[in-house]
Amino acid sequence: MKILFIGDCVGSIGREMITEYLPKLKQKYKPTVTIINGENSASGRGITEKIYKNFLLQGANAVTLGNHGFDNRDIFSFIDEAKYLVRPANYPFGAPGVGIVYVKVNETLVAVINLQGRTFMGQDLKDPFETIDQLVSEAKKKTNVIFVDFHAETTSEKQAMGWHLDGRVSAIVGTHTHVQTSDNRILPEGTAYLSDAGMTARMMRCLV
Ligand SMILES: [Fe+2]
Repeated sequence: MKILFIGDCVGSIGREMITEYLPKLKQKYKPTVTIINGENSASGRGITEKIYKNFLLQGANAVTLGNHGFDNRDIFSFIDEAKYLVRPANYPFGAPGVGIVYVKVNETLVAVINLQGRTFMGQDLKDPFETIDQLVSEAKKKTNVIFVDFHAETTSEKQAMGWHLDGRVSAIVGTHTHVQTSDNRILPEGTAYLSDAGMTARMMRCLV
């Protein structure tokens, strides 16, 4: 099982990079599943239906979000029908959309979970640790292949989540800071961990 995860795609430059590089990455690595974090894909803030559908057309199996997930109001017109769009599972009660989706590829079911941290961001969010415990229990009834995009500010919170999930999920990859951390490792109980996947764009001043 190979999972290709693409960190925060930012604006038109990020989208152009996906158009240019995703086919090459797919050809080279032949991933089973491709996941894109699209929370900054519409001019740095949020995502539109057109962009979401284009990600799927280009080969993404699921699209995750984060703290800017709802910044572009277009999302409210399509999120209920977007089967492969995942917003942070610990968004406040009543938020539209879902925090977990299941992707079936070649008879393998993959659970894709999006979660947001609370340190220095999103104080009104539900506890991500409690939330993930519930979701992992739910996902385990269907599959052992579980991918978590943990959209958070601090490396400490991301590492704590990594230890919390070690041995219970396949991989946990951080997003949000737009800085690729290169601390990828397999934790003792077998979970793949990376603090942050970085961003898909050129170096520039941009929102996170
Ligand atoms: Fe973010």
